[in-house]
Amino acid sequence: MKDAAPQPVRLAEYTPFPFVVEHVELWFTLAGPDTRVRSKIRFAPNPAAAAPAREIFLHGKELKLISAQIDGAAVEPALTPKGLTCPVPEGAFTWEAEVQIDPTTNTSLDGLYVSGGMYCTQCEAEGFRKITYYPDRPDVMAPFRVHIDSDMPVKLSNGNPVGDGEWDDPWPKPAYLFALVAGDLRAFSSDFNTMSGRAVDLNIYVRPGDEPRAEYAMDALIRSMKWDEEVYGREYDLDVFNIVAVDDFNMGAMENKGLNIFNSKYVLASPETATDGDYDLIEGIIAHEYFHNWTGNRITCRDWFQLCLKEGLTVFRDQQFSSDMRGAAVKRITEVMQLRARQFREDQGPLAHPVRPEEYIEINNFYTATVYEKGAEVIHMLKHLVGDEGYKKALDLYFERHDGDAATIEDWLKVFEDATGRDLSQFARWYSQAGTPRLSVSESFKDGTLTLDFKQETKPTPGQPIKAPQVIPIAVGLIGPNGDEVVPTTVLEMNEAEQSFDFTGLSAKPVASILRGFSAPVVLDRPLDSATRAFLLAHDTDPFNRWEAGRVLGKEVLTAMITKGAPPSPDLLSGLHRLVADDSLEPAYRALMLGLPSEDDLAQTLFDSGHVPDPAAIHAARETLLEAMATEMEPTLASLYEQMETPAPYTPDAEAAGKRSLRSACLGLLSRRDGCARAKVLFEAADNMTEELSALAVLVRHGEGAEALQTFYDKWHHDRLVMDKWFMLQVVQAPAEKMAETAKALTEHADFDWKNPNRFRSVLGAMQANPAGFHRADGAAYQLYADWLIRLDPVNPQTTARMTTGFETWARYDADRQQMIRGELERIAALEGLSENTGEMVGRILG
Ligand code: TRP
Ligand code: ZN
Repeated sequence: MKDAAPQPVRLAEYTPFPFVVEHVELWFTLAGPDTRVRSKIRFAPNPAAAAPAREIFLHGKELKLISAQIDGAAVEPALTPKGLTCPVPEGAFTWEAEVQIDPTTNTSLDGLYVSGGMYCTQCEAEGFRKITYYPDRPDVMAPFRVHIDSDMPVKLSNGNPVGDGEWDDPWPKPAYLFALVAGDLRAFSSDFNTMSGRAVDLNIYVRPGDEPRAEYAMDALIRSMKWDEEVYGREYDLDVFNIVAVDDFNMGAMENKGLNIFNSKYVLASPETATDGDYDLIEGIIAHEYFHNWTGNRITCRDWFQLCLKEGLTVFRDQQFSSDMRGAAVKRITEVMQLRARQFREDQGPLAHPVRPEEYIEINNFYTATVYEKGAEVIHMLKHLVGDEGYKKALDLYFERHDGDAATIEDWLKVFEDATGRDLSQFARWYSQAGTPRLSVSESFKDGTLTLDFKQETKPTPGQPIKAPQVIPIAVGLIGPNGDEVVPTTVLEMNEAEQSFDFTGLSAKPVASILRGFSAPVVLDRPLDSATRAFLLAHDTDPFNRWEAGRVLGKEVLTAMITKGAPPSPDLLSGLHRLVADDSLEPAYRALMLGLPSEDDLAQTLFDSGHVPDPAAIHAARETLLEAMATEMEPTLASLYEQMETPAPYTPDAEAAGKRSLRSACLGLLSRRDGCARAKVLFEAADNMTEELSALAVLVRHGEGAEALQTFYDKWHHDRLVMDKWFMLQVVQAPAEKMAETAKALTEHADFDWKNPNRFRSVLGAMQANPAGFHRADGAAYQLYADWLIRLDPVNPQTTARMTTGFETWARYDADRQQMIRGELERIAALEGLSENTGEMVGRILG
């Protein structure tokens, strides 16, 4: 452990920086270990500061200061590991400095580093301080001019090009949006004319030879630019928009002004190497980073507590975009599945925190599902409450009022209040209260009136023992006994702890469809007999809730199988069968119907209902139910498998992808009945990675994959992104009792480049997708996982810290497992020199 306990940063302690930065000029000499950065920064007193300051503090980390001057005279600032302090004259002044840094040994992938021979940067959240001394905080915004001296052919930075390796960014920006790239790169280029007639050059920079693989990302970029103009009236504001693909990257991508940097996994695609899922993610992430140009860059965050201001809103916007591109129902279902898998899991464990946290030790630990995904759900609810018109008015006001600002959640809510006249003081609790509300409902029908009695309750979370009632928009529709909708969707607004709503004038007792479209991020607790659930599964006119009816039924059936040894329910099997066979439904939707709740979701559900989840029993019950589904539906699945074949050549559009997803679900189920013959044929014949991989998964799951794995390796070993899939698949499909050994053997493979985050996650991260294997009773997987976190921490603290969340669910399990997981966490916590990132996470998980 670190000697002194690191001090948290608190929202309540925010104060403005005493200076404004009027202009920044940077000169980079990229020379490997002797890389130099010269800076010239014009400071002036900040009129918003309490009192004029006579000294300045600048952040700086792992920098070697060569020289410093103020107004041309040498100064000798006081240096600490976190920065420097220096006396300053009254009024405005110019700071100049030169520092030496070594990007070649920077394995943290934070600041300036080298990836595959190319220089690149990652500055969010606090990486700029590893490049030069600077007030590295988002409320300090300035225009930048950058000069890059390097023998690399391509030299990029933010803004517009003004010479070879010279860039000027006129838009004031915080340091976290700074970027620089220099390398031997090739561009896939296109252009875009904005709605007001600005011609923009678009370039996606990749390694020589990869150009064709950038075509889809470019297409997605152009569609994103158009969509933001049409839907939000937002136009691009520079002459160029550049994207660079980088192999070594901690996260998905980064919205640096005019120079987005992407994990190559989310840019490069070809039918042979990328799956339908990859295409979907590329489209969504390209859109996300592009949309940040307005929600994040033109309007940024005052401090990192406001992170959801840009991330929640930008996720919401990319979800709207994907929904327009790919279909609303399927998109909403996959969003909710992901929200439950990641955010509910977080909210129900020791890492629960509000969408706007109030303190942190290491901000990088707060780029969470709660900030991103629950942050987006909160905006989704806001839109429900104020309506589409109100939302549009509020957003127009937001852009008008706050363009150029570093804003807060209070500013955000105020535009909604001003635009719509609504009081949002209670709604604001969604930003400050952690935890997933549990919404229970009971229903009664009398004299033509249906009464719904709701109750909301949020359990205590770390640091928040008592919760006040929140505003919950509950979308409800009523279905008559013959299956017709008798009351269309209306949004009930709940704001008390307990509240009733009446629907009057009904001629017969209807069936309520509650929380349509998942109108609030809550757990709905609704006791209902399985016949009524089956009725909703057959008749609900809301596609989300129709899917949800099957999901809840599936959960109930699996719970009964696990806790009472009940058999798979015929109601569920026949209900799902009818839907899957219904040709009027889109294939992607039917494929989702064939999915069952995940093992992790079931573990949480069992825990919530007072059981101690047994990962092996959960796995076994799911397998039994899948086999029962295969038996029930066999002829339907076999004919669908033929029907859903997509014609060559492969196209990545949602319709074709939907057919392949249904086909792949059929393949998986059918293999449980009659083995691997279909999968073998498909593996050999597939002209695309989606089908090649789904066939391989079936072969490996049935223990018949050895030869195919070798064939696949021989074919693809030169391709990093495809090899990530090869590693991952073996861990995910391994039998639970052998998963730890499989993963361990893969970490000893010559191609296991553990310093590359994608590769590390494709083996160690993949263990999470095999819960029965991860939670194996002897703790072998826990130990392997911890061993590798320990190894990675000194090399890459950000990725290590993130991956500690594999252990966040320890409290659900039996005493032996709890003790083993806590033992591993304590082993990590006790390490000499453990990073602050990982130290904070382990400490919070242990509680
Ligand atoms: N702002 C980025 C996004 O959401 C996230 C991100 C990229 C990031 N790289 C990072 C966050 C490194 C923390 C650290 O699009
Ligand atoms: Zn983002």
